[in-house]
Amino acid sequence: MKEKLNSLFNNAMEELKNIKFVDEFEQLRVKYLGKKSELTQTLRNLKNFSNEERASIGKFVNEVKGKLEKAFSEVIEKIKEEEMERKLKEEVIDITLPGKKFKVGHKNPIQLVLDEIQEIFLNMGFTIEEGPDIESEYYNFEALNIYKDHPARSEQDTFYIDEDHVLRTHTSTVQIRTMENKELPIKIISPGKVYRSDALDATHSPIFYQMEGLVIDKNINMAHLKGTLEKFIKTMFGDKIKTKFRAHHFPFTEPSAEMDVTCFVCKGNGCSVCKNSGYIEILGCGMVHPDVLERCGINSEEYRGFAFGFGIDRMVMLKYGIEDIRLLYDSDLRFLSQF
Ligand code: PHE
Repeated sequence: MKEKLNSLFNNAMEELKNIKFVDEFEQLRVKYLGKKSELTQTLRNLKNFSNEERASIGKFVNEVKGKLEKAFSEVIEKIKEEEMERKLKEEVIDITLPGKKFKVGHKNPIQLVLDEIQEIFLNMGFTIEEGPDIESEYYNFEALNIYKDHPARSEQDTFYIDEDHVLRTHTSTVQIRTMENKELPIKIISPGKVYRSDALDATHSPIFYQMEGLVIDKNINMAHLKGTLEKFIKTMFGDKIKTKFRAHHFPFTEPSAEMDVTCFVCKGNGCSVCKNSGYIEILGCGMVHPDVLERCGINSEEYRGFAFGFGIDRMVMLKYGIEDIRLLYDSDLRFLSQF
């Protein structure tokens, strides 16, 4: 028995020497150590031997099996190592071949311009406030002196949620919320979505982005308003751009103005975009109306402030010379991937 097992062991070792590949190895392993191998069968048949024989044969078979297993595992390690080396040698990487380009997502132009605008105001010491998109009529209208009969209230412009809730039509709502809740002095901007039931065309979208600004402190006057807005526009569009303030009316500011900037198409010479005036309107602004201050619990004898609001989409269109607002919302990659 022992002799048989010894010669089996020697044969296995002999065959193992010539093995070079994993699949050959696997065949050999099954032959000598698999379920049907002679070794396994011998172990299984131990019960047929007498007690004494069983102990000594069992021990011997297990010794042979152990030695074989060790030899097999050493060989497979070596084969795998050699295979890896061979692969590394064969699969040379040609680093001069052009790489594959992955399409990487990036920011929408509205977000790019918004980031830039925020950065400018943060550098001037403003902080950012937010307000809800669904507002009560009070915050959207009444608190801003827009009373029941004001044309801005007509259902034509406003999406009503129910009798006294609307989708905010401007970010001026955040002026009121901030004055009610924040300590004085105040110096904030508030970007966000606004909603108006306008038909969609090249210059109107029912959803667009606005940015509100509000500064409240002692001794604030119109010069602060002009200085701040001019600084912002010049940082954004370059020193060459000219600004012009025109008297206007907003119910919640007094006096009120609109700011115009030199036309981005004709640079001030006059064209169809600016209706030959050389300028285009870019934002609304004014000194916060004393009634609005008082309504928010601020003493209008002691404190004054200015506010401004503008469409971010319009800034994007000015910045990149885009003439149709719909492009900003269409999700057309041919357009978006240019930014
Ligand atoms: N809320 C005004 C609008 O939507 C803009 C504005 C803001 C005007 C602040 C004056 C002061 O047109």
